[in-house]
Amino acid sequence: MPILSGRTTRNGAWALGLLAVVLGLSGSYTPQSTLDNGVALTPPMGWNSWNHFGCNVSESLIRETADAIVSSGMRDAGYKYVVIDDCWQVSRGADGVIVADSTRFPHGIRALADYVHSKGLKFGIYTDAGTKTCQGRPGTYGHEEQDARTYADWHVDYVKEDWCNASGLDAPTQYAKFRDALAKVGRPIVLSICEWGYNHPWDWAPSTGNLWRTTEDIEDKWPSMITNLDISAQHSAVAHPGAWNDPDMLEVGNGGMTDNEYRAHFSMWAIMAAPLIAGNDIRSMSEATKTILTNPEVIAVDQDSLGRQGVIVWEPSPDLQVWSKKLRDGSVAVTMFNRSTAPAKLSASFWRAGLHVDSAKVRDLWEHKNLGTFKREYATTVPAHSVVMVRIAATT
Ligand code: GLA
Repeated sequence: MPILSGRTTRNGAWALGLLAVVLGLSGSYTPQSTLDNGVALTPPMGWNSWNHFGCNVSESLIRETADAIVSSGMRDAGYKYVVIDDCWQVSRGADGVIVADSTRFPHGIRALADYVHSKGLKFGIYTDAGTKTCQGRPGTYGHEEQDARTYADWHVDYVKEDWCNASGLDAPTQYAKFRDALAKVGRPIVLSICEWGYNHPWDWAPSTGNLWRTTEDIEDKWPSMITNLDISAQHSAVAHPGAWNDPDMLEVGNGGMTDNEYRAHFSMWAIMAAPLIAGNDIRSMSEATKTILTNPEVIAVDQDSLGRQGVIVWEPSPDLQVWSKKLRDGSVAVTMFNRSTAPAKLSASFWRAGLHVDSAKVRDLWEHKNLGTFKREYATTVPAHSVVMVRIAATT
């Protein structure tokens, strides 16, 4: 597990947020060179085993999860990548080829990938840039090209590459090595960089991977979710199609937060154009969890093809924020975010949100309801630890 790294102070975060507003909403940012592998043009959506199951992964879990992604409507809502995290691998053969746990995956990884594909989904796997994974399984160091070929033979569509047991290695170099190995195998594969923001990935990862973790591991607790949100928010200016900040996978439905808090978690990931990788047990999720994870109007904000990461545009007090994300059709998505423990009134000014009109239509993305036409601002009361999320469009 990664250890704690330094954090930017609240004032620092605020100043960076302001800069991000200027860059993010004015549209003046020119993306640095992007990994041109044609995938993840919108933030990747899918499911990953780690948050709920840890090392307890198996062929039957992955198959049942793929089935549940289809039957729950999650596939149709946009969830595509089914990713096995750490612990699927046990050793290397005499030829150096990575070997899957044959007790847990008796039919092998290729057969499992084929099953996932037969459901209209895509298949992902996990490795580590160092000598061993975070759970002590074989890492890819020194085997980058061989592993990339193996994954292509197995029809893998997504690789998450971790950063444990990599001391003395240079992150930009090692991740570029794996990127180049993947480029040689002739299969479009999403590269998910996971070095927890330790080596300033926002400075180099857009030309190396499709997404990069900005933070340490999320926990299924409100303060952890908030910490990851605040860190990822500082790097909004670099996100663009094919290249996304990753504040870590979703905890929605894992039981450590209330449904209001999970709605906030999901809304904030969406306004930040974060990857939406569910991390719960899809096979047994509640109706409330399913409703959150499949909200089409919130997912549409995350997946908007303009590819902007939303930013804070108004913070009247430390626990009250208004965030805005510019969308392709000229409208803006706004979350009015109450981080405090009491209900609070918040107002979203159209101009501050980046919509330079005096009158606009407002639609509530959780209530699925047009709220009407408003002048200059939309104001409402937001419950504790929750959001009101709206889409605001100029009246024509
Ligand atoms: C690290 C990563 C997690 C997960 C575990 C697996 O902690 O950050 O997301 O992949 O390793 O061991």
